[in-house]
Amino acid sequence: MNSVTVINHPLVQHKLTIMRDKHTSTAGFRQLLREIATLLCYEVTRDLELTTTTIETPLTEMKAPTLAGKKLVFASVLRAGNGLLEGMLDLVPAARVAHIGLYRDPKTLTAVEYYFKAPEDLDERLTIVVDPMLATANSAIAAVDRLKERGAKDIRFVCLLAAPEGVDKFHGSHPDVPIFTASVDRKLNDKGYIVPGLGDAGDRMYGTK
Ligand code: PRP
Ligand code: URA
Repeated sequence: MNSVTVINHPLVQHKLTIMRDKHTSTAGFRQLLREIATLLCYEVTRDLELTTTTIETPLTEMKAPTLAGKKLVFASVLRAGNGLLEGMLDLVPAARVAHIGLYRDPKTLTAVEYYFKAPEDLDERLTIVVDPMLATANSAIAAVDRLKERGAKDIRFVCLLAAPEGVDKFHGSHPDVPIFTASVDRKLNDKGYIVPGLGDAGDRMYGTK
């Protein structure tokens, strides 16, 4: 409960530093997000259950390990979640995908939903929510609220950066959902941006502003 795992792998931390740098290009930012996503995916799936299946190698028959249970679901919080989603799907290509369209109202910082589409049987699957930024946590809480409403019971949240305020608020609402992140930064500023952070993840990914 209230679990936060900071993924301190040197490759993650190195790539994150380049992403934070305001001089990094849009193409570079997007590529690095995809690469980091594979490393975060490796950690968040580390304890998945295995079963065995019988296969034939060119030399002999063997019982070999394979993932047990139903295919997992990645739930991407649009837009920026899609940057993490791509890297996750590189590693788990058979995963199912949910899309949750949310934007932050710039004045109130509340999350406004504009789209939701998810597999029917969320109650039978592990759901991994992906969004690079956990700032006020309004978006993450709204996303997990919706997934739980639709039956999801086993949920994990993966982000690139989290603010301490967001971590506390998220766990106030969803203590059962563990957070995996590359960094818990210093603080939120008065506009709800993570400091030192990396700016607006969606804008940096897509070259908007
Ligand atoms: C960003 C980010 C998160 C949200 C985090 O999305 O991708 O979804 O802000 O902030 P919060 O924790 O304070 O809710 P944004 O609303 O900018 O939308 P975008 O991804 O479409 O750019
Ligand atoms: N959303 C972002 O993209 N960046 C922040 O720092 C906070 C919310």
